[in-house]
Amino acid sequence: MADCVGKTPIPLGILISGRGSNMRAIVEAVAEGRLGADVRVVISNRDDAPGLVWARAAGLDTLVVSHRDFATRDAYDQALVVALTSRGVHLVCLAGFMRLLGPTFCEAFPRGVLNVHPSLLPSFPGVDAQAQALTHGVKVSGVTVHFVTPELDAGPILHQVSVPVRDDDTAETLSARILVEEHRAYPEAIQRVVDGHCRVEGRRVIRGACDV
Ligand code: GAR
Repeated sequence: MADCVGKTPIPLGILISGRGSNMRAIVEAVAEGRLGADVRVVISNRDDAPGLVWARAAGLDTLVVSHRDFATRDAYDQALVVALTSRGVHLVCLAGFMRLLGPTFCEAFPRGVLNVHPSLLPSFPGVDAQAQALTHGVKVSGVTVHFVTPELDAGPILHQVSVPVRDDDTAETLSARILVEEHRAYPEAIQRVVDGHCRVEGRRVIRGACDV
């Protein structure tokens, strides 16, 4: 569960599947004193995730827990929970982690799992959110940081930042502009949880005293 009584640094775990630029933004925010966290471990479900190379070079504890090694989602979730709790992790940040986490995982860290997603949820959940936005023809997309529940990209929304869609955008150009905002928004939103500056009422995350 997220430690919301303002104590810092909070023990943090980061889950990745690929490039890991959001992981890097979190680690840099910690190094620059913008985020009161202690990154205890970076876990990837893929052993070829490029983000692992950066994390190892940065001296972080890294681990590969492949979903392919487990017969059920529940067994996989349980292995992740053990890896995180054995390192004292209180708050888990998904950073491009492309696996659904089920009830076993979410119940182990109630209101203690965050995700960053490259659209204004509830529009365009799942993969290729930026291409989905272009295909739909929206004029504004953006970034969402939300608490994770077992439903895909559907948990209570902590923070959103809009990004205009340009007429000449491709999935690549829109993704690049959204990514810049992700790198700013995610550490800021995590710090809000660390500080206890939010509470969850139903689906709404309200700024103020914290009960998460
Ligand atoms: C980011 O754009 C992140 O928002 C997205 O994957 C990318 C990972 O990049 N996540 C999702 O789409 C989750 N549904 P990164 O590995 O460089 O952080």
